Amino acid sequence: MRLSDVPGLTQLTLALAMTATFLPKAGAQEAIERRVNDLLAQMTLEEKVGQLNLVSHGPPLRWEDISEGKAGALLNFNSAQDVARAQALARQSRLKIPPLFGLDVLHGFRTQFPLPLGEAAAFSPRISRFASEWAAREASYVGVNWTFAPMADLSRDSRWGRIVEGFGEDPTLGAALTAARVEGFRAGGLAAAAKHFAGYGAPQGGRDYDTTYIPRAEMYDTYLPPFRAAVEAGTASFMAAFNALNGEPSTANPWLLTDVLRKQWGFDGFVTSDWVGIGELINHGIAADGAEAARKAILAGVDMDMMGLLYIKHLPDEVRAGRVPESVVDESVRRVLRTKFRMGLFDGPDIDTSHLDSAFPSPESRQAAREVARETFVLLQNRGDVLPIPSSVRSVAVVGPLADAPHDQMGPHAARGHKEDSVSILEGIRRRAEGVGIAVRHAPACDLFCRDTAGLQAALDAAKQSDFVIAVFGEPQELSGEAASRAHMELNGKQIEVLEALAKAGKPVALVIMGGRPQILGPVAESIPSILMAWYPGTEAGPAVADVLFGDVNPSGKLPVTWPRATGQMPIYYNRLPTGRPTLPNNRFTLHYIDEEITPLYPFGWGLSYTRFAYSDTVMAQKQIGEGEMLEVSLTVKNTGARDGQEVVQLYTRDPVASRSRPLRELKAFEKIALKAGEAKRVTLQVPVESLGFHLDDGTYLVEAGTIQVFVGGNSLAEPVGDVEIVKTFRIPPMERRASAATGIVQ
Ligand code: BGC
Repeated sequence: MRLSDVPGLTQLTLALAMTATFLPKAGAQEAIERRVNDLLAQMTLEEKVGQLNLVSHGPPLRWEDISEGKAGALLNFNSAQDVARAQALARQSRLKIPPLFGLDVLHGFRTQFPLPLGEAAAFSPRISRFASEWAAREASYVGVNWTFAPMADLSRDSRWGRIVEGFGEDPTLGAALTAARVEGFRAGGLAAAAKHFAGYGAPQGGRDYDTTYIPRAEMYDTYLPPFRAAVEAGTASFMAAFNALNGEPSTANPWLLTDVLRKQWGFDGFVTSDWVGIGELINHGIAADGAEAARKAILAGVDMDMMGLLYIKHLPDEVRAGRVPESVVDESVRRVLRTKFRMGLFDGPDIDTSHLDSAFPSPESRQAAREVARETFVLLQNRGDVLPIPSSVRSVAVVGPLADAPHDQMGPHAARGHKEDSVSILEGIRRRAEGVGIAVRHAPACDLFCRDTAGLQAALDAAKQSDFVIAVFGEPQELSGEAASRAHMELNGKQIEVLEALAKAGKPVALVIMGGRPQILGPVAESIPSILMAWYPGTEAGPAVADVLFGDVNPSGKLPVTWPRATGQMPIYYNRLPTGRPTLPNNRFTLHYIDEEITPLYPFGWGLSYTRFAYSDTVMAQKQIGEGEMLEVSLTVKNTGARDGQEVVQLYTRDPVASRSRPLRELKAFEKIALKAGEAKRVTLQVPVESLGFHLDDGTYLVEAGTIQVFVGGNSLAEPVGDVEIVKTFRIPPMERRASAATGIVQ
């Protein structure tokens, strides 16, 4: 789907600024290198360091820093007027180098699309590319040219609030979506920054910013593939992570920033620190002062200092004192200038100050946001087919504080989102219901954080007077995102109490959950038959949720993250290693908890539909495969129900006997297909043999001879469909592995 596929795309949208392509064609690269070197040769040491300084709008930035060549990159500039002013000042500087304008554009600029974790539930690179392109088009319309996204941090721990910014727990899904997001941002006019490099999604205890320990082989197998995919997709930049990885802070980690990123992957863009990340090296206990922090960061491979002002303050002296070779500074400046040339910044016009973000949301961007949102909803359970709302229903009670939460539905990192643009879930239901004569009653039952339940009786009365109850609960936005780690993942406040009371009202109840992570449902999973996970759906939450509740659209999202029964199960993920004592129900001395089930509530890849799909006639193309070949599985998927729908066909593998324990299941390929009621389709999934092995600590990829078990189905509990034999062991040295093979994405 291209943007132009959206019905009714207007001239305004088509005319949005979009000059940059960022990926140089053959030959153009040499010309760019010449221009970079010419410019570098004219620069003073101070001007060079100015290019490495990334400063936010407002203090400590002085506007004259721009004309004095001291601020080569700017962030949090989000209006065309401010961008134009900075561009004009940069043109007054001696070398007239245009600035970068960076912003956290994750899931929309003015029009809000679903948060990335929700978007991941669409299991669709096409949808991710589409949503990212929209976000980028709106941001670049006012002059933003660089986004601090996509977040490529894999996370197996939903206590970590930032899981909402990524793609969840799987490296294959993560690599595919990260690449799609980079491409989408670029197509919409934004250079990407893949962040946070690396291991930030695995902090101990799920505590944001805390230490991470991940063996190198596991980094290569699990945490690095999405970043590698970002390089292959042409990301312009990387952002170093706040955390220490195995005792070495990422912001001064030469293994990550130089050995892996530059030497093994050949990345030639630049790396920025995160917000004052360089100064935090002092807190990490590896630098005594700002000068040492700056020195360690640049020598490790951090090219740009976000908001620390330490490069600008200390690097010239560090160079003059001989502690940092000038060639190191030159190389960092080269990377920044190369990126600016690739983006076309030296050659493009300044931003047109008549461009206002209030051009959005437009009817087209609303339509796009609605289309994306309804692909992301996951029907977790639907006992007795309570959903969709039957046509016999004449009245609905909409209960819960998040039904009318125009701010919260936008989710964290809403860029220029205005809550006034939001269509709430209540409003969406009203529009849909009242058009066909269904009465809507609304009662919040409790306040936003559900501490005060004075409104419960009114909600129960509304439920009793209605044919159907739609309960909208979950996590207010403040409980999700950066610095929002949770030690208690239960539905917060008194939500469980309220939902239990509603369940007893004697009416069919469907629960819509809003939030940035799986939440612990406790008894609610039993007492409420139908539960839809809606994440933070964005501006068009209301129409999109109504589309699905009323059955105009069939839900098709799948969980990109395992849904636990209890917080104490964290971290929990499907692609875990086997143990010597696999769970046996009646044997205490096997893997289990004494006070909770060992299984999750809903597994990775899970999501129901209003129709049913049957899998049959599976054929494995070969019994044996060797280097350069594909594992290929074909099967028939049939929609056996009465409604059209979409299914995500998932292929998992396991290597049951290897020189090192291998995961019980690993997603290797997936495809989302649409099937009309009664329709059957043949699906073929391919996996390169080069993604059926594992890494050694030095990054070598080892594919071992032997049996690989294959499973295909609609979630990670997929049925076995047969084995394939890898005929001969082979190794791939780190520098020869392409991300597409590294991640099993079939191009
Ligand atoms: C976050 C980054 C973000 C930056 C700039 C930091 O606190 O960790 O992800 O890009 O702020 O807003």
